[in-house]
Amino acid sequence: MKNLLQSLLPFILLFSCQSPKEQGLKDHFESDFFIGAALNMRQVNGTEKGADSLLLMHFSSITSENGLKWGPVQPKQGEYRFDFGDAFVEMGEKMGAFIVGHTLVWHQLTPEWVFQDGEGRFLDRENLLNRMEGHISTLVGRYKGRIHAWDVVNEAFEDDGSWRKTHWYNLIGEDYIERAFRKANEIDPEAQLIYNDYNVWKPEKRKAILDMAKALKAKGVRIDGIGMQGHYRLNSPSLEQIEQAILDIHEAGFEVHITELDVDVLPRPTDVEGADLSINFAESEEWNPFKEGISPEQEKELVDRYISLFDLFQKHGDKISRVTFWGLHDGSSWLNNWPVRGRTNYPLLFDRDKRLKSRFLE
Ligand code: GLA
Repeated sequence: MKNLLQSLLPFILLFSCQSPKEQGLKDHFESDFFIGAALNMRQVNGTEKGADSLLLMHFSSITSENGLKWGPVQPKQGEYRFDFGDAFVEMGEKMGAFIVGHTLVWHQLTPEWVFQDGEGRFLDRENLLNRMEGHISTLVGRYKGRIHAWDVVNEAFEDDGSWRKTHWYNLIGEDYIERAFRKANEIDPEAQLIYNDYNVWKPEKRKAILDMAKALKAKGVRIDGIGMQGHYRLNSPSLEQIEQAILDIHEAGFEVHITELDVDVLPRPTDVEGADLSINFAESEEWNPFKEGISPEQEKELVDRYISLFDLFQKHGDKISRVTFWGLHDGSSWLNNWPVRGRTNYPLLFDRDKRLKSRFLE
């Protein structure tokens, strides 16, 4: 992306004149990868003003942010809710976008009933596998041929490379991953199947993920890609660490998806990296320093970080199939609430008024 600013300038000027037919980010990166955004309900059902035009202009892929996770989709046993999913897929089809479903098997946002029998006792392996496979069949089956890729399993490993001791792992064993991928493949053999996680730039974690994925592939289980959640900070991880992850995933024979890109500009009360949702600090003035806005210097730092990230992604455009931002604009980012609740954060390329960050206009 040698001269991103220069090449973006013409279409940005046109965009600011509200010309819907001109080029957007998706066009600029067309020969490299899809440009995606994770969407919430208001953005897929048309109630958020301006979301539609931003999507049509700049994005060639969409991911369901929370709406297709187990809790929202099947809050009670056998009670499925497809209002989000249906609107989401319709939006993607209207855009002509590459549509990504997130996520089939995860330890978060999965109701406790999933793991229990009627008396509140943990299920045995076979019963839990039945439940997991039933959920996968229903969801993947409903959107067969319309959702183009699924994050089949999310976050199965700890940062040190050990297995995350989730109910899935504890009650079924390591092969819950294999069973989930096999079932998804059986139901929609055309959909791309992805394993997704954060901090894939950490070597121990990456090794565990790739060892698992290669072992399954060797057994004939289809895993197409590894999703690197890009929950980054201004100075961490380094570009070299991210690049090594891209190279290793490619070398191991998997497509690279940058699945959840954002850059946190706020300080953190703890030195945590990634997206461990169990970490939660209460709202506090002290940790919300930029409530009224960030300075031009801070915004420049953010934009510079994005430019260097996209330079790197473009350098490896032959290995990366998609770069998805985790949110459409600053106002709808989860980083306003993690790891400290109720803050004002600025982690995306579009601000709260849905405008590209000002330095792109210089
Ligand atoms: C992880 C999950 C996402 C989302 C983010 C934070 O990255 O994969 O679904 O919950 O955390 O919002």
